[in-house]
Amino acid sequence: MIFPSATRDVPEVPSVPRHVAIIMDGNGRWAKKRFLPRVAGHKRGVETVRAMVKACIERGVAYLTLFAFSSENWRRPKDEVSFLMGLFVSALEAEIGKLHANGVCLRVVGDLSAFEPRLVDLIRRGEALTADNKRLTLTIAANYGGRWDILQAVNRLCKAEPEKAGNYQECDLEAHLAMAYAPEPDLFIRTGGEERISNFLLWQLAYAEFYFTPILWPDFDVAALDAAIDSYRKRERRFGRTSEQLNTPASVANDR
Ligand code: IPE
Ligand code: IPE
Ligand code: MG
Repeated sequence: MIFPSATRDVPEVPSVPRHVAIIMDGNGRWAKKRFLPRVAGHKRGVETVRAMVKACIERGVAYLTLFAFSSENWRRPKDEVSFLMGLFVSALEAEIGKLHANGVCLRVVGDLSAFEPRLVDLIRRGEALTADNKRLTLTIAANYGGRWDILQAVNRLCKAEPEKAGNYQECDLEAHLAMAYAPEPDLFIRTGGEERISNFLLWQLAYAEFYFTPILWPDFDVAALDAAIDSYRKRERRFGRTSEQLNTPASVANDR
């Protein structure tokens, strides 16, 4: 499927974001505030994931993308990294059947070569089981980095179409990005108070609306999601044009 690109087309602006991408941040601080080990925050964060999947289905969001583990998160203490890997396995084991029953298509993006074979196998089986589901596409970004994504796409493109070297277009590269199956995010949310992108979807967020909230991920709830969507609805998405152009007939506004 070919999706509109925010730089080559002027995409439609849906009132419910079609694609929501979230950096789930603040688990460690949530736990620390309660004098619990950091990993207790990660565990509690899985419950927020469950609630967000349900809420996005109910609101008609078609794509939900969650940053679960960045290519830089290997720098964390060994114990925390192995807890996160174990949590990924147990969450997949516990949730995949329910996701399937609810019509969710699961995708995992990132460099899976660093993961244990058991985890990779679970991921692949989950993706295969849910491949035809259409209600919501849930993407988990794991060992993902925006730079990794662009670079792997460049490498694949060079191999696939060496004869076009020097003349590649944006759409040529996009076909090889890890999330080529999804439209670009309309709404980007980061919980936990930091206002940075931390190497998430660098290419795909070119024209997303950004929403930052101090709420820690385990505390993020349906009301918080609705507040983010409300904020998104109030934005004027101009894609390079002027405000006046948006308020004139489409035939005139699109004439550049
Ligand atoms: C996000 O929460 C989860 C992962 C990065 C895996 P953090 O663990 O970064 O929580 P804080 O930012 O330390 O509070
Ligand atoms: C970003 O959170 C990655 C994920 C949520 C998976 P971090 O907590 O790792 O980001 P930084 O290090 O504060 O930028
Ligand atoms: Mg963090």
